[in-house]
Amino acid sequence: MNTLIQDCINSKFSKTPIWLMRQAGRYLPEFRSIREKNQDFIELCLNTKLSSEITIQPINRFGFDAAIIFSDILLVPYALGQQVNFKKNFGPDLNKFDLNILNDVKKEDFLEKLNPVYETVKETKKKLSISNKDTIGFVGAPWTLLLYMLNRKSPKEGNFTIFPKDKYINSILMKLDQFLKIHIEAQIRSGASIIQIFDSWAGLLPEKDLDYFVYKPIKSLVDFIRQRKTISICFPRNINSYKKFVDYVNPDIISIDYNVDPSIIRDTIEIPVQGGLDPKILLQNKEIVRNEVTKYLKTFDKKRYIFNLGHGVLPETNPDMIRYLVDEVRSFNGQ
Ligand code: CP3
Repeated sequence: MNTLIQDCINSKFSKTPIWLMRQAGRYLPEFRSIREKNQDFIELCLNTKLSSEITIQPINRFGFDAAIIFSDILLVPYALGQQVNFKKNFGPDLNKFDLNILNDVKKEDFLEKLNPVYETVKETKKKLSISNKDTIGFVGAPWTLLLYMLNRKSPKEGNFTIFPKDKYINSILMKLDQFLKIHIEAQIRSGASIIQIFDSWAGLLPEKDLDYFVYKPIKSLVDFIRQRKTISICFPRNINSYKKFVDYVNPDIISIDYNVDPSIIRDTIEIPVQGGLDPKILLQNKEIVRNEVTKYLKTFDKKRYIFNLGHGVLPETNPDMIRYLVDEVRSFNGQ
């Protein structure tokens, strides 16, 4: 039997599928209680028992149509030999990058370090097997990872310099392409039915640099995923032209941010669309939430649309509002 997302892609409309980026996380008390006892975030991501439990928490509570594996895009730099720490109220903090270390990484060692993630995918798949839901694996896009690896912390808008397209940068991008494919393949082999590619910082680049840093590297991954008969979702956050991105990269599904007008997306893009709702809306009252949810559902009515947000669920979100959101999306379908 197909999942709701597969049906949506094949234009078999029943219900609008819904899942949320960062659906497993700090807004959930059941996550916070595990997190309090596990201070090291990377270690938590590499604890199969706990990460598969965290992955399933929002499914048990809200019945989302897909589970995204509880892990992080920065586990790849970690497995490539760069230390990553998550500091409270600061975000990720990476050690100095060293190309010599990256050049020495062996495929076997990389796979061994990340093996608990693949076990989490298997465990999640097992837990979902009777409920016919998708298991979503993911990677950070090469550009966003390159930025974290060289900037060593979250880039603030305007507070970073774009790298030259020289031999040094090119060799890092080539290595990322190679190891991201290894990571994608292992997640698919373990049971991921969808791979989402997060390019959270695509919007920082000027138009002239997109080809080199965004379109080409992501297309290479999308083609790889397609060869393995797996669904790809791309999220090039805050990019100026989603149309140009889709025309070049041609993923199965495009995930949009909240700054773009959804009716322009609907009128210019043919492929299935995901997301859009501003996560800050979920901090407002129910009437505002209902109006905004209805706006997205009406805009994409009779189109292939997967309900999601324009970025991750904020930690201060009340879980009752997520319950309300899911009920609203489900009842719109029932009309
Ligand atoms: O539920 C899910 O979406 C699955 C798990 C997931 C996490 N991170 C868990 C997480 C996913 C898919 C990610 C992706 C990720 N990680 C991205 C791309 C999406 C985006 O948000 O733009 C990025 C840029 C990262 C890097 C990262 N990880 C940052 C910048 C931070 C710190 C900021 C923050 O929100 O705390 C993290 C930490 C992180 N990743 C947390 C979670 C649940 C919070 C950790 C904590 O409990 O302190």
